[in-house]
Amino acid sequence: MKNDHIRLVGLSGSLRKGSYNSLLLKVAAQLLPADVTMDIVSIEDIPLYNADLDLPAAHQRPPAVEYLRNMIAKADGILISSPEYNYSIPGGLKNAIDWISRGEDSPLKHKPVAVMGASSGLWGTVRMQMDFHAIFLYMDMKPVYKPEVLLAQADKKFDARGNLTDETAKKFLKQKLEALKEMILTTPVPSEEYNAVKA
Ligand code: FNR
Repeated sequence: MKNDHIRLVGLSGSLRKGSYNSLLLKVAAQLLPADVTMDIVSIEDIPLYNADLDLPAAHQRPPAVEYLRNMIAKADGILISSPEYNYSIPGGLKNAIDWISRGEDSPLKHKPVAVMGASSGLWGTVRMQMDFHAIFLYMDMKPVYKPEVLLAQADKKFDARGNLTDETAKKFLKQKLEALKEMILTTPVPSEEYNAVKA
């Protein structure tokens, strides 16, 4: 982190209009700690990963990919809210992560990150979240694991206005955001070459 203000990028793993995960991200945006803001970036225009469309085969990456990479490069941390599809990370989100993981200048490297999830099932995306650990490890990211935010039976946890009615989940979400802020504040500033990309 280079200045006093902390910027997050929020990513939802669901493209659905009524998505509980997108709702959870919006709730998080209202519970951010002091001096923290969040831009929610959609992954809906990211094409399927194809090395022919990536550098160096292509002169430039697809615009939606460039936009997402730049937003993440400029951010101090990432907050992911995702459903679990077939006990794992939804394909669209994994595809977006694959795009931004490529290259020496990947903005994921050393980036603080927190993942949470909402599911209509009873396990609240725990298996999806476990699968993210491998990605965080490979990309040398700085994950915030605790507290876990696992919103099970999400169809019963929001009111008609999209407010989260589960007070325990709200408490854990607040603590998670504080933990992400703390991770950002205590993570050393990345190398000069990385900062050149971020500028
Ligand atoms: C699901 N769902 C689901 N739920 C779960 O708890 N574990 C799972 O493995 C799966 N698998 C799964 C696969 C696919 C292809 C779909 C479409 C759905 C149900 C899922 O939790 C539910 O649809 C959520 O509401 C999706 O999140 P959003 O879209 O509300 O954010």
